[in-house]
This record gives sequence, C-alpha cells and structure tokens, in this order.
Amino acid sequence: MSEHILVTGGAGFIGTHLCAALLDRGAHVTAVDSLRAGRLPALTRLRQHERFTLIEHDITEPLDWRTPVTAVMHLASPIGPAHVRDHPVPTLLAGSAGTVNALDIARRYGARIVLMSSAEVYGDALVQPQPETYAGNVDPVGVMSGYQEAKRFLEAMAMAYRREFGVNAGIIRPFNVYGPGMLPSDRRVVAAFVAAALSGQDLVVNGPKAIRSLCYVDDFVTGLIAMMDSDASGPINVGACEGTAIGDLAELVVSTVGTGSVRLGPSTETDAAARVPDIALARDTLGWEPSTPLKDGIRAAVDDMRLRIANQATVRFDVPAAWTSLIPEVSALQCRADSVGGALRWLTESYPVLAPRLLSPDGQLVSWTNIYLAQDNVRDLDGLDTILTGDVTLIALPAMAGG
Ligand SMILES: NC(=O)c1ccc[n+]([C@@H]2O[C@H](COP(=O)([O-])OP(=O)(O)OC[C@H]3O[C@@H](n4cnc5c(N)ncnc54)[C@H](O)[C@@H]3O)[C@@H](O)[C@H]2O)c1
Repeated sequence: MSEHILVTGGAGFIGTHLCAALLDRGAHVTAVDSLRAGRLPALTRLRQHERFTLIEHDITEPLDWRTPVTAVMHLASPIGPAHVRDHPVPTLLAGSAGTVNALDIARRYGARIVLMSSAEVYGDALVQPQPETYAGNVDPVGVMSGYQEAKRFLEAMAMAYRREFGVNAGIIRPFNVYGPGMLPSDRRVVAAFVAAALSGQDLVVNGPKAIRSLCYVDDFVTGLIAMMDSDASGPINVGACEGTAIGDLAELVVSTVGTGSVRLGPSTETDAAARVPDIALARDTLGWEPSTPLKDGIRAAVDDMRLRIANQATVRFDVPAAWTSLIPEVSALQCRADSVGGALRWLTESYPVLAPRLLSPDGQLVSWTNIYLAQDNVRDLDGLDTILTGDVTLIALPAMAGG
C-alpha cells in the first residue's frame, strides 16, 4: 500500500510543515483540523496539492474514518500559555477524548501512531537538563495544569493502547519549536517577539533569565518523521539541547529586525525557570539532532513574518452602537490583518471586554456570517479564513454586536 498518513492538527504551525514534508516524500496526506487556531497561509498552498485532503473536524468527537492509513500523527491541541490558561477545558478534551479517537483510528488499521506530548509534562523542572526518565514537577491544579495534565494523560493513554491493544504508539516530547509560518497574532514567545519588533514595539520580557530550548521547525519535522519511521515507544525529547535565555532571545530578535526594544515586565506563574532537553535518546534511537543555528532560524522567521505583515490589509471596524458602552473611549478601531478571522482575533485580544460577543464559550470565533464586508477586497469568500486582498471595513450585524 502506498503511504497514507492522517495528521490531526494538520492545519497548524507544525502540522502544515509536516504535511508538506510528507507530500514531498510521495505520501497521501489527510489533515484533520477544527481550524480552531485559524488558517495559516501554508494551508492554502497545501490544498492545491492533489495528494492532500483537509477534513474540518473536532477530534474530541469520533471521526467516521473508513480508509486504511499507514500512520496517524496526532498533533491536534490548543497551545500557548495565554490560550490554555483561558480555555483549559477544550485543552483537556483534546488531550483526552481527542487522543482516544486518534488512537482508535490507528488501532483499527494497525497503523503506526506518533503523539505530540510537550516539555510541559516536566512542569517546573527540578532536574537540568531534563532526561525522559525525569517524571516532572507538575501542580495538577496550577494555571498550566489544563495543558500539562492533558499531555500527561495523552502519554498514559498512548502507553495503555500500546500495552493492552498492541498499538504501535510512539510519544514525542517537543520543546519550543519556531520558524517560518508563525502567525503575527500568535502569542507564543518567538512569534510575539518577532511581531513586536517588526512593528517597532517593546518586546516585553517576563523572566529574562528563564531558559528555553528553541528548535527550528524543519529540524523538528525531521525528528518527527524519524519517529514515525521507527517503532520506538518513547517518550523521546525532541528539542534544541542548548538553552537560550529569554532576555538574549529578545536582544537577538531586535538586532535581527533592526527595530523594537526590550522592556522588562513582571514575571508570571507560567515562566518555569529552565526547560532544556537531554536529547541523548533522540540521538541514539532516531539518529536525530538539530542543526540550524538559532541566528539563522530567527533570520528565516523574521523574513517570513516581515513578508506576511507587508501583505496585510488595513481593517477598519464599524463600531456598532451596542459596543460603544463597552469601549466608550474608543471611537475608531483599526488593525492590520490578512484574514477576517485574523482581524477578529486582534479585536478580542485588544479589547477582551468584547470577547463574549465574538467568542463561543470554548474560545472559538463565532460564525463569520454575522460580519459584513463593506468592500469586495477578498480573494474567495471562505468564512473566517477569507483572505483580504485590500483594505476593508468590517460591519458587525446585530446578532454579533449584541444589539
Ligand atoms: N510549537 C511548539 O513549540 C510545541 C511545543 C510543544 C508541544 N507542541 C505540540 O505540538 C502540536 C502542534 O503544535 P503547533 O505549534 O503546530 O500548534 P498550532 O496551534 O499551530 O496547531 C495545532 C492545530 O490543532 C488544531 N486543533 C486544536 N484543537 C483541535 C481539536 N479539538 N480538533 C481538531 N483540531 C484541533 C488547531 O486548529 C491547530 O491547527 C500540539 O499538540 C502542541 O501541543 C508544540
């Protein structure tokens, strides 16, 4: 059988890079994604490929899937401290129900399955660097527990399916991954720093000495595919073994971009002091180690985001009467965005008081049908992911405006 690989979360940052790499080696690829995190421009390119299919589906619900697959890559999960803190319930459901649904597909077809855990399973690590044998230091009711416990459950269930049902499951523990394809609206550290520097703003550093492992996405995907091609159970750490202080990262981004400045902010509960992997197991089992120098990777990420921002349109919001009491000091709203969803996400993040009008209880943007585009500056009408090709004004209809 020719390779057919199901990628949950295939429309995301790592997922789109993985799908592209799998297509390059001749596989048929089906991405299953709720499009919860928005649609990346890379997805538009993938959809032009004849061996690529996208199924819009929430993996926390069983998928009626009846085509044999050779492998399942389970990436679907909300991510990012800010989002996970605000929406722990869908995060825990993706790690629990979503993981079971992905494992069931692999079990049905005797397929290899690789599941994406996270370095967050180590919590506030007391061992440096972290080997896979370190069991972690996680507070089960802490602010990040929705994500940490989701990933710990994912690992436990993967091992349970392996031991009880003989499923060929393998667990990867990624540390921070970055590179081209990150959205300017992404609030994870590298994307947030690059976006801030490109717009000449302050890069707010909440713990300058906190150490992170930063792995370039192409290196990471090579490790992920090596894991898919092996029968290893893991868990296996995949990340850069050299730690980078967050303050140094901010300085590197500012010097690469040429604008922006570093400002110290208050430290937060989510800033574990150091998270750096011991990658001896990845070297021995997968023959993998990262090779892209941080300076080169940041340069590629900056160039990509610079281009993306240059192509954004100016979006004006026609402020409905029902919003003026919520944001009385604001008479005109305007942002730069490349899609309708991107503009609405900016609105919810910049004015959280509007979020209840724009987001469903689990943090998803409400239907775009409540938004009216005052101009025709779009390529194809494609819901929230409608690409803007020129400046537009968005008008909220009464259902969304709350009037
Ligand atoms: N990027 C990193 O630095 C990093 C680090 C550690 C772990 N990981 C893990 O890697 C995976 C991919 O991360 P990413 O950076 O590409 O994130 P991402 O947000 O860009 O991609 C995740 C994708 O999953 C989809 N998704 C979320 N919930 C879903 C659901 N219930 N059903 C279907 N689709 C759903 C989103 O729409 C999104 O497209 C995640 O499991 C994440 O926890 C990533």
